[in-house]
Amino acid sequence: MFKKRILSAILGLTVATTLIAGCGGGAKKDAGKAGDGKTTVLKVAFNQPETHPQFQALKKMGEEMKKRTNGKYTIEVFPNELLGAQKETMEMVQSGTIAMSVVGGPLLESWNPDFVVFNLPYMFKSMDEQKKVFTNPKITKDLFNSLSGKGILVKAAFTAGSRNVYLKGHAVKTPADLKGMKIRVMQSETNLKMMELMGGVGTPMGQGEVYTAIQTGVIDGGENNELIYSDLKHCEIAPYYSYTRHLMIPDYLIISKDVYEKLPADVKKIFDEELAKAVESEFKMFNDNIAKAKAKAEKAGAKFNDVDIDAFMKAVAPLTKEKLKTDLTKKLYKEIRALD
Ligand code: GCU
Repeated sequence: MFKKRILSAILGLTVATTLIAGCGGGAKKDAGKAGDGKTTVLKVAFNQPETHPQFQALKKMGEEMKKRTNGKYTIEVFPNELLGAQKETMEMVQSGTIAMSVVGGPLLESWNPDFVVFNLPYMFKSMDEQKKVFTNPKITKDLFNSLSGKGILVKAAFTAGSRNVYLKGHAVKTPADLKGMKIRVMQSETNLKMMELMGGVGTPMGQGEVYTAIQTGVIDGGENNELIYSDLKHCEIAPYYSYTRHLMIPDYLIISKDVYEKLPADVKKIFDEELAKAVESEFKMFNDNIAKAKAKAEKAGAKFNDVDIDAFMKAVAPLTKEKLKTDLTKKLYKEIRALD
């Protein structure tokens, strides 16, 4: 409720400025219009806190864009799901209500199932390998452009580290330890199947609901990277963090096609260059922040443990077989494996 009010205030305010500035169009065309009459502010919906490397990298990108366009263009990131949970913000980007959003890979599968390829368990061997793939347009081009007919451009992929299971009551070592455990997963059928194969029961929901769901016993735990585990304080209520390392999903920066295409050519170039720098720095920051996040979680009572990775890899292997169905996903899979 509180969030809804903030959201309408944020959007409403810009609609008012837009109308005063004589641009017209109302909320639907609000995404890239002048915030203060002089500067066009491209809004980014973000579901994580200001401390997150993606927030920091995008904030810097906005500052650099402002400098390089002599104050004409900038971006503003709205953290903590202020503009809504990821699923809703995708629709808002599509309709042009907001310019951009950062969205976890699994959510794109319902827009184009081929996105599954980067969301499969044990797809990437390391963050380095992930970076080689995400920063190579020859590999990503077809997939990233595949939503353009739906009004969305995928402009970049950030890292979100590796995801690991955490539980309220005990450490996990093998799939048997997840038996009967309700684990929150991101909203995709692939994630649900994955959790089933890992031995648990997947419960899909947005990130913002997880803390209360664990606290109230609706679920027994979740799966996420160390940064979110620590920053969203899940470590306080689910202290057993087990290194299953089952997923390394991308977080995509998506932009409304309409907004991007209307940018002048020189601004597009600046946008693309600064975004590439943001991805570079985000990978580095993310890596640097893992140890700090772990230390903070440990201080709050969390216990980290290794697991029998081979047992988990074996358990989820059928999913990869099942999901790589199309020519594009098969081709992408081959290209990733060629980097091993
Ligand atoms: C990670 C990821 C987010 C995602 C979240 C989740 O934090 O970076 O994009 O929303 O996990 O589990 O929902």
